[in-house]
Amino acid sequence: MPSQRGSARRRQRGVLLAGIAILLLALVLAAVLASALTRGKKEESLEPLRWQGRGTTRNLREIVLGRCYGYLAERRAELGDKDCLKIWESLKDAFIHKNPCNATTEDYQPLMKLASHPIPCNKSLFWSKTNDLVHLYTKSSRRFLTLEDTFLGYMFDGISWCGDPSAPGINYESCPKWSECEGNPGSVFWKMASKMFAEAACGVVQVMLNGSIETGAFRSSSIFGSVEILNLNPDKVSEVQIWLMHDIGGPQSESCSGYSIKKLKNILEERNFKITCEDNYRPVQLLQCVHNPDHPDCSLCTNSTEAP
Ligand code: APR
Repeated sequence: MPSQRGSARRRQRGVLLAGIAILLLALVLAAVLASALTRGKKEESLEPLRWQGRGTTRNLREIVLGRCYGYLAERRAELGDKDCLKIWESLKDAFIHKNPCNATTEDYQPLMKLASHPIPCNKSLFWSKTNDLVHLYTKSSRRFLTLEDTFLGYMFDGISWCGDPSAPGINYESCPKWSECEGNPGSVFWKMASKMFAEAACGVVQVMLNGSIETGAFRSSSIFGSVEILNLNPDKVSEVQIWLMHDIGGPQSESCSGYSIKKLKNILEERNFKITCEDNYRPVQLLQCVHNPDHPDCSLCTNSTEAP
């Protein structure tokens, strides 16, 4: 009898131990499964949103600070005191951690204020579809100033930035194209900067347009057409001079008497501005000739400019 009772107890202990072992195994498995699941979720939320445009420029902080200090080193006398670190912080506050389709003008107001400076009369030069040529000209003559030659435009020209709700709050992989959503950081920033640049203009202003564009030199949907001309102040700006440039040897799609230029003249006249237009403004054409010295338009005896 005692040996039968002993073996029954051993069996009971065995069953108990097996039960405990199974329970422990189940607990370990559950813990492993739970940790794998939460890790998967965390990794998922670390993925930045995907857009069609290029992502934030790498080393954005260093580039903005470098350009800021560089510009000030040359022109601090004209600009007065500007705080580059504050400028960087205000850019960062405008977009970091935010959904890049929800940018607002309020986000960028402090940055605009920190970087603004007066622009002398008769110096403002606007442009559309002539980015390379206009800046070749302003760099070589310094008689005029585009938005990209001002402190604000210079710091942010050609770079891209946008935020993202997930860490680290900046999306280096992609940012929305202007066509993807209206409230994207680039579009909000450049439209505000263009508005401010136009409002500050006084005296005679210039605009360099591209007469080799098939769809017309002036587009009312461009920033020049939709923001800048509407924000020129007729009480401060006396005259708008149009320089209509053609690619050397390229198509002469439109001259000063062309359809889109007439449209531009009408808009400006309605706003009481005096207007002139010149085909192939010679100082700029001479710069184009650096790359095409043998073309007939570049011959010193040519007279391809046309009075308005
Ligand atoms: N998507 C991306 N970038 C754009 C877009 C867009 N839809 N529209 C304008 N831009 C930016 C680009 O950086 C481009 O190089 O503006 C620049 C100029 O665009 P254009 O079509 O050539 O000209 P426009 O829209 O008239 O803007 C030029 O705005 O930059 C100011 O004062 C400057 O007078 C100039 C005007």
